[in-house]
Amino acid sequence: MAKKMDELLDSNYDGIEEYDNDLPRWWLYLFFITIAFSAFYISYYHFGPGTDGQPLALLDKEMQAHNAIVAKNEASTSVSSESAVEFITAAATDETKLAQGKEVYTAKCAACHADKGQGLVGPNLTDNAWIHGGTIPDMVRIVENGVLEKGMLAWKGVLKPEEINNVVAFLWSIRNTNVPGKAAEGDVIAE
Ligand code: HEC
Repeated sequence: MAKKMDELLDSNYDGIEEYDNDLPRWWLYLFFITIAFSAFYISYYHFGPGTDGQPLALLDKEMQAHNAIVAKNEASTSVSSESAVEFITAAATDETKLAQGKEVYTAKCAACHADKGQGLVGPNLTDNAWIHGGTIPDMVRIVENGVLEKGMLAWKGVLKPEEINNVVAFLWSIRNTNVPGKAAEGDVIAE
């Protein structure tokens, strides 16, 4: 016996009435498909390839891969890589790069290292004495990570890698210019 369409039910909720029609076929099929899919998905998710049987093991694996990438990136920050040393050495004689580096220096560093790098709160950057080493990678490392307990800020993430390159190139260009200022601190680095 075919069911009548659009037959009103007796119920009446504050004026809201309803039909007793069947669910549309397409809707019902979609519903069955999701049930079938869930059976497949649950078994795949828990026991499928690469999961080691457990979502947590999978998470663990992905976290390890992620941490390895983070560690690698931290170890070889773009700016302290070998090519960065080349880049910075070249930039230290490039007027444009130096001007950009000086701009960063004046905006971010001069407050503590003084306008010409002669030192104020921070050490004199124009002498030949360095607390943390006087090579390009040393400078990049200090600029990136800072010496927080001594008041030198960490600039990684604040300055773009390119700005760090340029500002270190600027430091490289003013080292050993011996602007009178704060007395030498650290070890003398022979050229
Ligand atoms: C808030 C103050 C402050 C600011 C701003 C600052 N520094 Fe420093 N900086 C210091 C202090 C203090 C030290 C000394 C750290 C120590 O004694 O270990 C230092 C040390 C350094 C050193 C190592 C010097 C050495 O003798 O080994 C470098 C290089 C340096 N700063 C570069 C920069 C650059 C580049 C900037 C700007 C991007 C900057 N600093 C901004 C306070 C500052």
